[in-house]
Amino acid sequence: MAISNGEKRKRDSSAQQGPLHQKRIKLLETRKQLPIWAKQDEIQAALRHHDVLVLSGETGSGKSTQVPQFLLDQPWCSHGKIAVTQPRRVAAISLARRVAEEMGTPLGSSSPASKVGYAVRFDESTSPSTRIKFLTEGMLLQEMLRDRNIAQYSCVIVDEVHERSVNVDLILGFLRQLLGRRKQTLKIVVMSATADVSSMKRFFSEPASNEENLASTNAPSESVVIGEDGSESSWDGIPGDSVVEGREQNGDRTVCTAKAAICHVEGRQYPVRTSYLSNPTEDIIEASLHRIFQIHCKEPMPGDVLVFMTGQETIQGLQKLVEEYGQNLTSEYPRLLVLPLFAALPQAAQQRIFQPAPPNTRKVILSTNIAETSVTVPGVRFVVDTGKAKVKQFRNRLGLDSLLVKQISRSSADQRKGRAGRESAGQCYRLYTEAAYESLDKDNTPEILRCDLSAAVLTMKARGVDDALKFPFLTSPPREALEKALLQLLSLGALEETGRISKLGREIARLPLTPPLGRVIVEAARPEMDCLMEVIEIVACLSVENIFLNTETEEVREQAQTTRQQLFRRQGDHLTLLAAVQAYASERSDRRRWADDHLISHRAMQSVMDVRKQLTAQLKQAKLLRANAEAGSADEGTQERILRCFLRGFSNNVARLCPDGSYKTFVGNQTVAIHPSSVLFGRKVEAILYNEFVYTNKAYARGVSAIQLRWLEDVLA
Ligand SMILES: Nc1ncnc2c1ncn2[C@@H]1O[C@H](COP(=O)(O)OP(=O)(O)OP(=O)(O)O)[C@@H](O)[C@H]1O
Ligand SMILES: [Mg+2]
Repeated sequence: MAISNGEKRKRDSSAQQGPLHQKRIKLLETRKQLPIWAKQDEIQAALRHHDVLVLSGETGSGKSTQVPQFLLDQPWCSHGKIAVTQPRRVAAISLARRVAEEMGTPLGSSSPASKVGYAVRFDESTSPSTRIKFLTEGMLLQEMLRDRNIAQYSCVIVDEVHERSVNVDLILGFLRQLLGRRKQTLKIVVMSATADVSSMKRFFSEPASNEENLASTNAPSESVVIGEDGSESSWDGIPGDSVVEGREQNGDRTVCTAKAAICHVEGRQYPVRTSYLSNPTEDIIEASLHRIFQIHCKEPMPGDVLVFMTGQETIQGLQKLVEEYGQNLTSEYPRLLVLPLFAALPQAAQQRIFQPAPPNTRKVILSTNIAETSVTVPGVRFVVDTGKAKVKQFRNRLGLDSLLVKQISRSSADQRKGRAGRESAGQCYRLYTEAAYESLDKDNTPEILRCDLSAAVLTMKARGVDDALKFPFLTSPPREALEKALLQLLSLGALEETGRISKLGREIARLPLTPPLGRVIVEAARPEMDCLMEVIEIVACLSVENIFLNTETEEVREQAQTTRQQLFRRQGDHLTLLAAVQAYASERSDRRRWADDHLISHRAMQSVMDVRKQLTAQLKQAKLLRANAEAGSADEGTQERILRCFLRGFSNNVARLCPDGSYKTFVGNQTVAIHPSSVLFGRKVEAILYNEFVYTNKAYARGVSAIQLRWLEDVLA
């Protein structure tokens, strides 16, 4: 039916008067108060003249929410979208939601007219009209493998670069290689509150010599003329002048250098006071508990609390304590709502932290470092920082990744502090002394110096970088680590003997999984193995939090022993996980009750189902899985094939039983014990295969299954 122009105008204007529009108008006033607002023209001008802008500005100054909106209507941006990367999905989703509100547009896939969307692992929410897309670094890398030129984007904003994840380092290297090589314009913005600006600038300004895949036209243009019209020439304070390389930040002004522009935003919207302990403490749980109740009993409402802890276990331990103590408070105090936040938590549970607390209730969020950068949690006025975080540490000699609790850097401490004072003045309590703060490392050690590089090297190879040593790294990883990664990829069959990526390697690189897990999937898809559906279910379990609830008391342990009995498989954890998923999926009446009865986390199981669905769809699309595939009950033969598939991906994670009853790893000859959470705990079998090596008070293998040594011979043959 044809719509008359008059009617169309009427409809448009009534849409504009809707609640989204009203919210946009209201938020516009708030946006204008942000320190970055006054820099709008400078930022736009910088990118008119330069391909790269390095932007620093205090936490909360408005970088992540405002910069994409400042750039959207620039003429150079008309042919493509703006990508904004985030280290973590919590930030990507919450920023997308906020920016959609500020722009008065629906979020993601909720409407075909939505202008702001997001993409995180196993969840993409965009529309045909998406113009700004927040995505995790891992997702952008995946897109970079599908389309080398990332033609859909005019601009990539790499946010929170100070975190220096391996993924960010790869993205920066790939972007630098793309500069000037693409037909359409590509603009790059690198942002952070705490990054080392000059090294970023240098990185994008160095001559592109000795690099793989760099066409000679690749180097960004040397001569930059600014001041071609009067209005613009004043933006950098050097009217009509040509630009002198090396002149950088000058107070609050943006000064252009020949290749990358630099801009600094002074100030934050609200102040944050910092206090320290006068004496160090050993017990961070006790100190956190004390501080939370000091705040709760003394500080007026409203004012939520965000506490930075080390990991899931400490968070859940503290949650129990806060809830117990909270129940003993008299009714003169407000109620407490304790919300945990850690990476393995399902998305819906993570997003709960952003909802306002109910009336007369104070939110206390207990988080790992996933809420450390980027996020604004509405209501938070108090930050409690324990000064510690769990970090991944790769031990080259053993070829093992382990998680260790470490002191954070000053940059991290400042980021944590920056989570307060976003909607009003705030307070940050550091549970360490001022002297301890001063003695912290300045910045995070780049992940590339301390983690397993096999995924990174595979991604490089899949993008055509054959000689990893010549890749433009911001910080070069140790040669030994690169060699180790190459060997691991070779043993997975992801590389050919020549070092080039194999067909199988390409398949693995496109999966949103680590190379070993990707290898397991590809192996299971082979017709003679034929157990892909079952393997997907196990891999889905391994990608979420532990599905089995902790059993702390003797009584609960006994109960768990009985109710979970029919799920336990003598071969170990992999087949036990499979049995649990299959039993849960076939439960048609009341899944929550089934989960409660078996002391299994219903929340985790919902995530497993979700991941299973997404992975299945992706593998069907990649033609690794038949369109009509379904999992059956796994008979003995299938069970053995499933374990053989895992062994194909994890042949480096094998330990054999020694005469003294201990297990020793094949690689590194290290003693390792079966983790108490495993169904094989306390059992003696010929050899074990494990998913994870964790080091707490001693070395443990987690996610363990019994294997036969002759299978290993088949794999290695
Ligand atoms: N979800 C939200 N709810 C309420 N206010 C928000 C929200 N997101 C952002 N804001 C407001 O916008 C301001 C700027 O946020 P933004 O994330 O753009 O800052 P930033 O400079 O990127 O900070 P950081 O360095 O910490 O990432 C916040 O300080 C806060 O006042
Ligand atoms: Mg930000």
